[in-house]
Amino acid sequence: MLIKRACRAIPLLLILLLSSACGVASTSPAQLPSALNPRGPAAAHLASLWWVMLAFGTAIFLLVIGLLFAALLRGRRATAATAPDDANPDKGRNWPLFAIGLSVIVLAIVFGYNVYTLAVVENPPNNPGIKIQVIARRWWWEVRYTDSGIETANEIHIPVGVPVHIELTAYDVIHSFWVPQLHGKMDAIPTRINSLTIQADQPGVYRGQCAEFCGLQHANMGFLVIAQSKADYNNWLHDQEQSAASPTDPAAQKGQQVFLSAGCAFCHMIRGLDDTDVVRTDVRLGPDLTHLQSRMTIAAATLPDNTGNLAGWVSDAQHTKPGSLMPEMYLNSQDLQNLLAYLQTLH
Ligand code: CUA
Repeated sequence: MLIKRACRAIPLLLILLLSSACGVASTSPAQLPSALNPRGPAAAHLASLWWVMLAFGTAIFLLVIGLLFAALLRGRRATAATAPDDANPDKGRNWPLFAIGLSVIVLAIVFGYNVYTLAVVENPPNNPGIKIQVIARRWWWEVRYTDSGIETANEIHIPVGVPVHIELTAYDVIHSFWVPQLHGKMDAIPTRINSLTIQADQPGVYRGQCAEFCGLQHANMGFLVIAQSKADYNNWLHDQEQSAASPTDPAAQKGQQVFLSAGCAFCHMIRGLDDTDVVRTDVRLGPDLTHLQSRMTIAAATLPDNTGNLAGWVSDAQHTKPGSLMPEMYLNSQDLQNLLAYLQTLH
């Protein structure tokens, strides 16, 4: 009865699994983040390792099942036969030796391939073209381009075909940096710097995800790696290096005052904004917003970056990400509209 019910549930489970995969693909600008669809050398090595282990696993499974059936058939024949087959009592004594020998050989091959893959992934051949610092926080990613002095959040732009060295750390608890199509997981640990080198062989948007449980919003701690042509990357870098322009539109000008007076500037940096009256601690609690509108998403790749989502996030972030540091802002509707008008100018 129970087995019948379980069998009936299998098609339903498959449909649910497929529909959830479609959901990921349609709400995110990124490709489906599968480690078996690698787009960089490190991920390609890891995918090869996975296929080799699957091949060995499948072969051994089939061998064991085959031997099991052979033994069952033999047992049946032996009970059906009238005379016991005791002419050769030593028959089959070498089987344990054979099984142990085969296990050792298979394990040695898989272990050797593992060590080789680790060595290749840990020591990429080329000198890194770009260095980036990534600081994991509950629940977003701070990204610093040390050579250019720019800072962004949750979206890492890289040029295609160039090794990018990432220095990874965490601000609060242990997180894990994972872009399945570009590299394996790497822990981000407070007070420690771990490093990895990612490289994308094709332009595209690659979804990343925190892969270490880090609290209430662990599942909503995503990010995007945007791989661009060298020219597009340089244009992006040039734009990011500019400070935010002063708004000219009256609503946006009022919105800038709201930004300063409502407390946003305590946590969020906007380069070029004259906020000398704001007592800013060096602890950056929220993302740098200088070029907010150049990003595809807000709230760590949780929502598409548009006016409606921004309004919802500013007025009631706790509804979207309960437990995040972004407080509810009690703004009247006019102030909210003006603030949104100002945020729209941050290209
Ligand atoms: Cu950060 Cu999970």
